[in-house]
Amino acid sequence: MTAAALTLQGFPESAPQARRLAAALTIPFSEIAARRFPDGESLVRVGDVADTVILYRSLNDPNTKLVELMLAASALRDAGARRLVLVAPYLCYMRQDAEFHAGEAVSQRIIGRFLDSLIDGVITVDPHLHRTRSLAAVFPTARAVAVSAAGLLAARLHDKGLAGDAIIVGPDSESRQWVEAVAAPLGLDVLVGSKLRAGDRDVTIEIPGIEQAAGRPTVLVDDVISSGATLSESARLLRAAGATSVDVAAVHMLGPPPVLAMLKAAGVDAVESADSVPHETNTVTLAPLLADAVRDVLDDLD
Ligand code: R5P
Repeated sequence: MTAAALTLQGFPESAPQARRLAAALTIPFSEIAARRFPDGESLVRVGDVADTVILYRSLNDPNTKLVELMLAASALRDAGARRLVLVAPYLCYMRQDAEFHAGEAVSQRIIGRFLDSLIDGVITVDPHLHRTRSLAAVFPTARAVAVSAAGLLAARLHDKGLAGDAIIVGPDSESRQWVEAVAAPLGLDVLVGSKLRAGDRDVTIEIPGIEQAAGRPTVLVDDVISSGATLSESARLLRAAGATSVDVAAVHMLGPPPVLAMLKAAGVDAVESADSVPHETNTVTLAPLLADAVRDVLDDLD
């Protein structure tokens, strides 16, 4: 039997998302087996090799995942895979793009080069790039493509029947790109705040014009929810200003279950997220968006 020319392999924690992408591409899927030994080391077993393998792994909670990804990519190369394309809907370590204090590792550059050494192409969703202008700057040789889930979040809010007087609110200047991309197709008003971060879970937010939220529904939009501090504080401000509802729409929901409880306690009604990171709030599937990006990358690599 001849080996398939193109397959998709994914790790157990996001097998449903990986299967959906394989289905959108109409290619075979197989699950990579990964288990931890008592000493913390990982054993990884990949599926049958193909000429081109799409490797699916979202890199939230990344440290062990990165090592397992390296083992899987190396095993696939050893078995004869010619091309490896990583689909990492959440791409880790993108925030530290400079040495803010002497001696700090610039993780964006280091992890970018590490992944670049493993793969020929990489696709991600809304990477947290600020001073770095494009994903291509992070990956020296691999074809790197970043797509945005903002359009899908807007479509989700539209399908939910969001009211025409709703305001899309961003907690800080960095969120403006997502806020505007979500609000524009819906023709909604926008407010964007500013944030001072004193610690991982200690933020102060100001939202100029917040008085406009009185008596209106609001939706907080951001790329990432991690500790939940940013959106909890924003929700408290919107409730205090008289917003009739506060929903949340985010691309990457990284927060563990207590973060959802924290958001609710701060006055958030519904939380919507893309399925870049498996979470009970996932309402938006990225598979069609990722499938288009995979096709583009494969065309470029041909
Ligand atoms: C920051 O620039 C990001 O866009 C998010 O606002 C931030 O990562 C959220 O983090 P947390 O949920 O820990 O406040």
